[in-house]
Amino acid sequence: MGRKSVCLLIVGVLVAYYVYMPLPDNVEEPWKLMLTNALLKTSLHLGMFIEILGICNFIDILALTVSIAEVSPTSDEVLSVTETTFNNTPVRIYVPKRKADARRRAVFYIHGGGWCFGSAALRNYDLVSRWTAEKLDAVVISTNYRLAPNHHFPTQFEDVYNALRWFLLENILEKYGVNPERICVSGDSSGGNLAAAVIQQLLDNPEVKIKLKIQALLYPSLQFLDFESPSYQEYSHMPLLYKSLMVRVTSEYFTTDRSLEKAMLSNQHVPAESSHLFKFVNWSSLLPERFRKGYIYKTPTYGSSELSQKYPGFLDVRASPLLADDSKLRGLPLTYVLTVQYDIVRDDGLMYVTRLRNAGVQVTHNHVEDGFHGALAVPELKITYRVLDQYIDWLRKNL
Ligand SMILES: *[C@@H]1O[C@H](CO)[C@@H](O)[C@H](O)[C@H]1NC(C)=O
Repeated sequence: MGRKSVCLLIVGVLVAYYVYMPLPDNVEEPWKLMLTNALLKTSLHLGMFIEILGICNFIDILALTVSIAEVSPTSDEVLSVTETTFNNTPVRIYVPKRKADARRRAVFYIHGGGWCFGSAALRNYDLVSRWTAEKLDAVVISTNYRLAPNHHFPTQFEDVYNALRWFLLENILEKYGVNPERICVSGDSSGGNLAAAVIQQLLDNPEVKIKLKIQALLYPSLQFLDFESPSYQEYSHMPLLYKSLMVRVTSEYFTTDRSLEKAMLSNQHVPAESSHLFKFVNWSSLLPERFRKGYIYKTPTYGSSELSQKYPGFLDVRASPLLADDSKLRGLPLTYVLTVQYDIVRDDGLMYVTRLRNAGVQVTHNHVEDGFHGALAVPELKITYRVLDQYIDWLRKNL
């Protein structure tokens, strides 16, 4: 063998080693998922390298790679797609062109991306919005919000909340031909976190007369007290959301000070004086037996109160919707929760299902056994359309 072929062989083996990862047997199209994962890993490694060199924040690199997938707002025969601002927050609006007999239903959608990246313009979110608008003959508002590390909590929350309140004004609903009694708020991942948070907040706002009919939370992250639930333990290296990445973006939501990330990684960031909050996220009692499996619940280890004094956001109910008490949850409308098995935040969704049901809220829970976090973000995969269809089907029946 010549030197060239030896080199080729070595490169081939290295690439295969980099791309290959063992996945659970029931995951569909495993090689496609591995390739997507390899792309993610590459930008993570690149980001870490550039950060070590001191050139810029790791998040900036990741945000840049993600933004390559942005598409412009393009109308077609069926939909008119435009961009505007709601209360200074940029939004993308999808309105069916067909003449309507009556005012339409509407979905207010909040994109994911760990509070740090993504936008309504990403190809997959554009697709989610188009499908929703077309299949339901509904108006879709896909909102943006300012991102970390340039903006921290509560900016992300407030941008979404302000945009939603603007949308819920009677004259705005009329302008877009929306029926005020048929509005849903939805979001995936960190967008599901923001969706759950804003709809809770609306309950306390007497100025907003219009009530949302339903909410849909798609593999949401809902708490930052405990990073060692069974799903966090079992799937910490599962694509497309590793625990290390999750803890990094979560801490960036509150601060760029890396000491919060460090404390979160060792699950010792909550001070003893907040111990009463653990009952809201106690997976020992809130998680169904089949998801607890052999995991043993340990009494939380508390950290110093310095971090929570400096960055109280991570204990704020507007960031951790699971911290709302039952009297608050009771006011929530019919809820759809999508959880996927191979997902570190799976247990957040599962615990919210239990807590909502305990409070008397009607919940449709869809658990996808072969799903992974970010399934809606990879339109090359069959599972994206399967999950999307199930969600849209639920909206068709309930909105
Ligand atoms: C969690 O729930 C278990 C079982 O119900 C209970 O024994 C334990 O004291 C709870 N821990 C906390 C911190 O709430």
